[in-house]
Amino acid sequence: MKFFLDTASLDEIRNAAAFGIADGVTTNPSLIAKEGNVDFKEHIAAICKIVCGPVSAECTSEDAEGMISQGHDYAKIAPNVVIKCPLTREGLKATNKLSSEGIKVNVTLCFSAAQAILAAKAGASFISPFLGRLDDIGENGLLLLQDIIEVYRPYDWKTEVLAASIRNPIHAIEAARMGADIAIHGGRPPRDVSLHFHTDPSEARYIIDVHGPTPLHGITTRVGYDVRTCSAAVMAASQASGTSVLSEVRALYRGHQKAIERFRSIGVDIALAKIKSFSRSGT
Ligand code: E4P
Repeated sequence: MKFFLDTASLDEIRNAAAFGIADGVTTNPSLIAKEGNVDFKEHIAAICKIVCGPVSAECTSEDAEGMISQGHDYAKIAPNVVIKCPLTREGLKATNKLSSEGIKVNVTLCFSAAQAILAAKAGASFISPFLGRLDDIGENGLLLLQDIIEVYRPYDWKTEVLAASIRNPIHAIEAARMGADIAIHGGRPPRDVSLHFHTDPSEARYIIDVHGPTPLHGITTRVGYDVRTCSAAVMAASQASGTSVLSEVRALYRGHQKAIERFRSIGVDIALAKIKSFSRSGT
């Protein structure tokens, strides 16, 4: 399964590329707007310099003629640009025309298997069912994804199924299990999904096994911004060192007080704690 990034942030794209999870990019007008006052075409060109795979540039016209004209314009930006058209009647007309000219189209805003069939018939290279937005209204986006994959299977349509509007790792795991061609992600999975409650404690134990049990002067948890992960690392280190006194704990926590209370509750006294606040906003 390929991973396409759902972001227009050049930093996020570079970061994900370093993890090998930037097979393509699917921007949309809202994501481009978040980047501030950037020139649309220059920004898409900058993304295409980082990522060799398909980069979606979304049309903002509402009629087929306008979308076709924007499609022609955007397709000149770079050879890997894909034109994103909405799954409206006008969007399908534009998809049919652009794909007949050899321009790849990602048909977006798909909410039913019937729509997905029409997109495939129009020649879409990608169909983007929006999982999260269906979940948001109490429906099941994964069922739609399953439907589309099953409906497409007997045919030789060249349309790749792109699981879009993904909200959580379960969406991505289930999309992989079902055999979706592509899953979208928002640029942060390397930090969020790679975390596991057991990883830091296990690493701390290995470090202590190698460097000796006592005295223990410092632990650095590199990814422990979750207080539960950090405290588990400290507890493991404390047990392995045979002391409940750690002279220095350096870690990243969401809140000082919460971290200190948690350490006390597991019997660890912190003589010197260098605790750096950390939140998703980076403060
Ligand atoms: C896909 O092409 C869209 O840009 C995206 O997945 C929309 O996701 P959202 O529902 O989180 O806005």
